[in-house]
Amino acid sequence: MISKTVALEVDQKVYNWRWTVKVAAVFVGVAVACLVLSNSLPSSSYLFSKSSGFRGFNKSIPLDVVLNRASMKNKTVIITTLNNAWAVPNSIFDLFLESFRIGNNTQKLVNHLVVICMDEKAHSRCLALHPHCYYLPTEGANFSSEAVFMTPDYLQMMWRRIEFLANLLEKGYSFIFSDTDIMWLRDPFLHFYPDADFQIACDYFWGNSSDVNNLPNGGFNYVKSTNRTIQFYKYWYNSRERFPGLHDQDVLNNIKHDPFITEIGLQLRFLNTAYFGGFCEPSRDLNLVCTMHANCCVGLDNKVHDLQILLKDWRRFTSSNQTEEPKVSWSVPQYCRTSFEHRKKQGDFSKGHKR
Ligand SMILES: *[C@@H]1O[C@H](CO)[C@@H](O)[C@H](O)[C@H]1NC(C)=O
Ligand SMILES: *[C@@H]1O[C@H](CO)[C@@H](O)[C@H](O)[C@H]1NC(C)=O
Ligand SMILES: *[C@@H]1O[C@H](CO)[C@@H](O)[C@H](O)[C@H]1NC(C)=O
Ligand SMILES: *[C@@H]1O[C@H](CO)[C@@H](O)[C@H](O)[C@H]1NC(C)=O
Ligand SMILES: *[C@@H]1O[C@H](CO)[C@@H](O)[C@H](O)[C@H]1NC(C)=O
Ligand SMILES: *[C@@H]1O[C@H](CO)[C@@H](O)[C@H](O)[C@H]1NC(C)=O
Ligand SMILES: *[C@@H]1O[C@H](CO)[C@@H](O)[C@H](O)[C@H]1NC(C)=O
Repeated sequence: MISKTVALEVDQKVYNWRWTVKVAAVFVGVAVACLVLSNSLPSSSYLFSKSSGFRGFNKSIPLDVVLNRASMKNKTVIITTLNNAWAVPNSIFDLFLESFRIGNNTQKLVNHLVVICMDEKAHSRCLALHPHCYYLPTEGANFSSEAVFMTPDYLQMMWRRIEFLANLLEKGYSFIFSDTDIMWLRDPFLHFYPDADFQIACDYFWGNSSDVNNLPNGGFNYVKSTNRTIQFYKYWYNSRERFPGLHDQDVLNNIKHDPFITEIGLQLRFLNTAYFGGFCEPSRDLNLVCTMHANCCVGLDNKVHDLQILLKDWRRFTSSNQTEEPKVSWSVPQYCRTSFEHRKKQGDFSKGHKR
């Protein structure tokens, strides 16, 4: 099981860190006060603006507060994780937020989006653009640069995320988890199965949403907080020890047939790529597409390039006279396709990863 001790350790770290911030803030406050007094500049607004700009780094609001602010009435949130490489200007995070702005009826969903930042720089950038950001510190890890696929840092980041999501379920929150390289073009809630506990998007979908042979992609899922999903996430997280060196998605592919899942009665569904598509298998009909994932793609620059084009295609579609003009279709993947085929040829994808 995911031990409480891990969660406690994390809380402890956040606490220690916050305490440091407080001490630093008091110190800065005193320093500013002295400065102000010695210069006889008594304006309190001056004092306030100066002292808030002085601090070395931004304090994270406690997780429960962030969740409570972002939550829908029924305790549902949208979660993404972010590191600095994806957060810098003109990178993935900007495109992600842009998709919510230009998507059909997706603007309102941004209010329920909680961005889990894996490093301080990502956290600062998030705070500058979005109301609900949370900094999740991890001891001994540096997640700020582009985590190269399947390196130990990459694996640690992926498993940290599963652990965090398990924690969320235990707190009673249901969530949509979405990778940041997924563009939100329509409201996905309209296309979920009402009776499922755990529903997940696919790299390749074979036509039957109950068929465990579909190839899921861990980058997008909708999970309701139930006893079954809590047990399932613990099982998933702990299974990493049975499959050392594999990431969450490959482990999921290994455990999806396990009797444990039928024993606990987990209702598992695979989402149709017609609605929840990606570069592996695009949602061909732009009248249906909900989300598009830059999967089957290697390299940050390639993802950014192709996602920019994808959003251009979408704008062209929404501004076209759809009754008159020939149907707009995707002009992607471009760089992503070659990046992926190149890597495949080199045999880097022995484990069939598509993310
Ligand atoms: C703190 O966050 C603000 C955005 O709210 C940002 O402008 C500022 O640069 C951040 N400060 C640091 C030190 O990261
Ligand atoms: C983390 O990695 C980035 C880029 O490699 C580097 O600039 C930064 O100093 C590192 N931070 C820490 C705390 O080691
Ligand atoms: C929560 O509310 C959203 C928005 O109204 C809705 O789409 C979703 O189905 C609800 N979830 C549950 C578990 O009732
Ligand atoms: C879909 O898959 C499930 C589980 O394998 C099976 O029970 C069901 O009959 C399939 N449905 C169709 C329409 O093939
Ligand atoms: C979930 O488990 C708890 C503790 O085992 C139990 O009290 C509760 O009734 C269960 N809830 C449901 C909906 O099964
Ligand atoms: C957007 O959604 C509305 C209904 O919610 C629909 O009438 C309209 O045609 C949609 N626009 C596009 C581009 O799909
Ligand atoms: C789209 O084309 C149809 C058929 O030519 C025309 O009736 C309609 O007014 C056009 N709509 C717009 C928004 O231009």
